[in-house]
Amino acid sequence: MRNVVLIGFMGTGKTSVGKMLATRLGFSFVDLDQYIEEKEGRSIPSIFREQGEAAFRAMEHEAVLENAERRNTVIATGGGTVKDASNMDALHRSGAIVCLKADVDTILARTAREGERPVLDKEDQGDRRQAVENLLEARKDLYTVADFSVNTAEMSPLQVVDTIVQQLKRRGALHG
Ligand code: S3P
Repeated sequence: MRNVVLIGFMGTGKTSVGKMLATRLGFSFVDLDQYIEEKEGRSIPSIFREQGEAAFRAMEHEAVLENAERRNTVIATGGGTVKDASNMDALHRSGAIVCLKADVDTILARTAREGERPVLDKEDQGDRRQAVENLLEARKDLYTVADFSVNTAEMSPLQVVDTIVQQLKRRGALHG
């Protein structure tokens, strides 16, 4: 195995778990959203505001291709990276795909702040729970492409990392 790719809905813990998982494995860590922000010199909400979602998705696709060839890296994707099948083709070739999951209440608590997640803000017509439910429903099949899933709602990030490492070992994807 070369890389571990974390997919999952917004607020499932991809970035925080990803950093800790990378440290545990002695891997490097890349967060695709941060990578895009650094490359563009502006925030994700600014990109959406100035150029719209389609332009962001094109940047996201470039970011996937530019990072999929790395080695020994934990790659945290954005919640919508899974929408593009060619992103997932490249990421499947890149390593093991792990989906992080959480219930609606946990996602709501972790994504409550407006102005940070333009896709959720746009879907939010005054009822944020409904917005999360709509997007989860629309995307639920897309997250089934993972090799395995871990629910992050009931565990500490450290426990999530332990679970991922165990699962990777069980699958023969890690040694030691
Ligand atoms: C998005 C999720 C965000 C970010 C962008 C779009 C989405 O990433 O890529 O705002 O469509 O779900 P996080 O999952 O890290 O919040």
